[in-house]
Amino acid sequence: MSKSAPSPPSTGPSSGSTPLHFGDVVVDDSKSYGHEDRSEAHQIFRQSAGHKVKHIVLPQTINPDEETVPGIQHPGSTGVIYCSDRAQANGFNYDSSHEWSNLGQGAPEVGPIPDAPPRPVKVEYDYDALEYAPTTGVKKLREAVANLYNVTYRKGKASQYTYENVCIVPGGRAGLSRIAAVIGDVYCSYQIPDYTAYDQMLSAFKRLIPVPTALEPENHYNLDIGQVKKDIHTQGLAVILASNPRNPTGQVIAGQDLKELVEISRESSTTVVLDEFYSWYIYHDRENDIGKSISSAEYVEDVNSDSVVIVDGLTKNWRLPGWRICWVIGPKNLITALSQSGSFLDGGANHPLQLAAIPLLDPQHVQYERVALQKHFKMKRDHVLKRLKAIGLEVKIPPVATFYIWLSLENLPDPINNGLTFFEELLKEKTIVIPGIFFDINPAHRRNLFSSPCHHFVRLSFGPPLEDLDKGIDAITRVLHKAKKEGMRSFGHSYRKSIEGRASLAKHI
Ligand SMILES: Cc1ncc(COP(=O)(O)O)c(C=O)c1O
Repeated sequence: MSKSAPSPPSTGPSSGSTPLHFGDVVVDDSKSYGHEDRSEAHQIFRQSAGHKVKHIVLPQTINPDEETVPGIQHPGSTGVIYCSDRAQANGFNYDSSHEWSNLGQGAPEVGPIPDAPPRPVKVEYDYDALEYAPTTGVKKLREAVANLYNVTYRKGKASQYTYENVCIVPGGRAGLSRIAAVIGDVYCSYQIPDYTAYDQMLSAFKRLIPVPTALEPENHYNLDIGQVKKDIHTQGLAVILASNPRNPTGQVIAGQDLKELVEISRESSTTVVLDEFYSWYIYHDRENDIGKSISSAEYVEDVNSDSVVIVDGLTKNWRLPGWRICWVIGPKNLITALSQSGSFLDGGANHPLQLAAIPLLDPQHVQYERVALQKHFKMKRDHVLKRLKAIGLEVKIPPVATFYIWLSLENLPDPINNGLTFFEELLKEKTIVIPGIFFDINPAHRRNLFSSPCHHFVRLSFGPPLEDLDKGIDAITRVLHKAKKEGMRSFGHSYRKSIEGRASLAKHI
């Protein structure tokens, strides 16, 4: 097990094309884009349901104008749905999706990759599997999960996970919702930027009080463990939630820092919930480390008294997002609570696929998958970073984990230096990225999105196959060339309006 976080990659010399410089670009001074009122991309965002400016800044306030169905408060569209809706307005649909590059994709490619075991495409099962499965999951799968964590992270430790420490859940978000549903009237901390769903999910469960804190680029978006310890005392935090490795920044808490975070749970009576969906997507520098993953399970002392909760599953690491087979690991008492919340929230994971998942948890099988995955995704990461650098978009804080690049646009000319406008311009080129504001604290509630720390960012995913990534970077290159050649006149306007009522294609993004 690697004890330290992998170092960022060198993007090396560029692939030969000339970087674009924008010092001589003609900017239309008649428009200053410093406020969203003057930006067409932002006006479109505000027109979509749930996104009107709120005059009270509390995240859960109701805007009476939007309460068109009695008693229903629109939660505002999530980043995924908003981006999918805007892509559809620009012609993205099931038939045309192959013409598009989806760098917004929050899932890995699901087909074969070099040197990986064959993809599981056939499932056989008996009549028994047509019954409901228990809300905590099939016992044999729970045992297989416990065994995988013991073999991978807990060799030689006295305290070992058993099936009673594992709850199978129908997807990561279902697991997180089951956890959120059993958190009491306490302060629950999470960080910005992090996985977009946390904000809405935590706000949906009204007992807990979500407390967001900002991660700083100066600190490489790392969690400052010393600050967390202080916050526990000064703010009375009872629960800390973080994705690790982190979506969207691609950074990871590892080694001593991860050990200390786990110790916090022991020493401060604080529950640490770690969403470890990208635990295999670690890009090692040393050949010998290839195949090693990172989990807080390595630093837990007693599996039933350390209050560390791990969420993971087949979605990203096994590259099976459509299976909806995931798990939560933690102290026994938590698992029995999750059985209860599962019984009213989701009713449990798909029975046949739980059975089919058991052999996929075999440690030897997992090792083959991990090695193949790390090599393939490292190659894709390095390729994308190199191409971005070649067109003048060098990534200052490159990802050491996950399959996301948190790309700053700050050095581009106004208005393509903000994520929402850059996103709209790329839609015209049949490419999807995710504007950074969706990783901010409930962005619709900001009065001026231009003041968001995530405003100058987009998240690019290198989850899709290499050819799709190239198609997307070609599109970015075209936008930058156009900016350089024609100046800014043709940017920031002429965006297509969204088409209301169309079936959502959210699953594509
Ligand atoms: C950090 C993180 N956790 C959980 C999930 C969701 O997993 P699932 O699709 O299984 O609900 C995602 C998906 O993007 C994620 O990025």
